[in-house]
Amino acid sequence: MEYISLGRTGMQVSRLCLGAMMFGQRTNEADAHEMIDYALAQGVNFIDTANTYGEWGEGKGRSEEILGNALRKNGKRHDVILATKFRWPVGEGPNDSGVSRHHLMQQVEKSLRRLQTDYIDLYQIHAPIRSVPIDETLRGLDDLIRQGKVRYIGTSNFAAWMIVEGLWTSERLHLNRFVSEQPPYSMANRLAERELFPMAQAHEIAILSWSPLWGGQLTGKYRREQPPPPDARVNFSPLANIWESNRSEGFYELIDLLTTIAAEKGRTIAQVVLAWTISQPGVTSAIIGPRTLAQLQENLGAIGMTIHDEDRRRIDAIVPPGAAVAKLPGQ
Ligand SMILES: NC(=O)c1ccc[n+]([C@@H]2O[C@H](COP(=O)([O-])OP(=O)(O)OC[C@H]3O[C@@H](n4cnc5c(N)ncnc54)[C@H](OP(=O)(O)O)[C@@H]3O)[C@@H](O)[C@H]2O)c1
Repeated sequence: MEYISLGRTGMQVSRLCLGAMMFGQRTNEADAHEMIDYALAQGVNFIDTANTYGEWGEGKGRSEEILGNALRKNGKRHDVILATKFRWPVGEGPNDSGVSRHHLMQQVEKSLRRLQTDYIDLYQIHAPIRSVPIDETLRGLDDLIRQGKVRYIGTSNFAAWMIVEGLWTSERLHLNRFVSEQPPYSMANRLAERELFPMAQAHEIAILSWSPLWGGQLTGKYRREQPPPPDARVNFSPLANIWESNRSEGFYELIDLLTTIAAEKGRTIAQVVLAWTISQPGVTSAIIGPRTLAQLQENLGAIGMTIHDEDRRRIDAIVPPGAAVAKLPGQ
């Protein structure tokens, strides 16, 4: 495994972070435990979850519960950098979502209980809410750090300016600052390279790329005029149609190129994509979201692979820096 500092902190995290979004959803608890143990044995020390991951609806929080159970069973809690998030709805009430002091204080206790730990290494705002002044959230998060419940704080899905606004606020009010941002970023969608990455490099903010395989679309199982396999995420995700309509012709050209590069290297498409992702300047870790142990094993094989300049040039010719061949709604 390769490790890197989490932004300007002294803490070392693995270049591949295990995303736990499938745990409790399409991956059952026993399989998740096996995957967690395997990942840790391979040197992964970074795990990402959220208070809303798990089964839909009432099952929200299952991912944290499963992680808590696994880390109690294997006794590895203190070897792991555990990241979770708050912000999306956990109930129907007016305060059951958001970034208020009220909500985050409530949610941190619930996450700590489910994770069976007394501290969260990285507590992240899952997405911004512009109507709430950033100083309210930052003061709450700073209190949690001072109480020892949280060690570092970060953002997700923030625009570059919002993070800089947070940094100014921390400096002005002498509060702990954000150390990381978790954006959607993959070879098929490089929009974060335009403003977010330069900002992150200038301010030493760690970039944790989510959906580096674009939810499985960059593995070779989504091809021109061919239905993906029945167990593919697209057949289970409420976003299925959106995915389909947001893939351009360039996406399929990219898959053709990746098929060639993977064959040249004797590796898989997923491995080439992940190796490229973590070698992109500014990227700290890629958060992989395997559903099965076999996928995890394959994906960890990206570590140590070299992406040559010539590979980069061919990839850039199809998806230039800052461009996208598959977009998210609203992008
Ligand atoms: N902050 C945010 O807003 C946000 C949003 C999304 C995700 N995340 C984080 O990012 C993590 C990763 O997201 P993600 O799950 O979308 O990442 P991903 O790694 O891009 O996609 C994972 C999915 O791709 C398929 N897959 C993975 N490896 C494969 C392989 N080797 N061969 C074939 N198919 C493979 C599997 O789906 P199927 O087999 O079912 O097709 C798997 O569940 C999440 O766990 C979460 O921690 C954060």
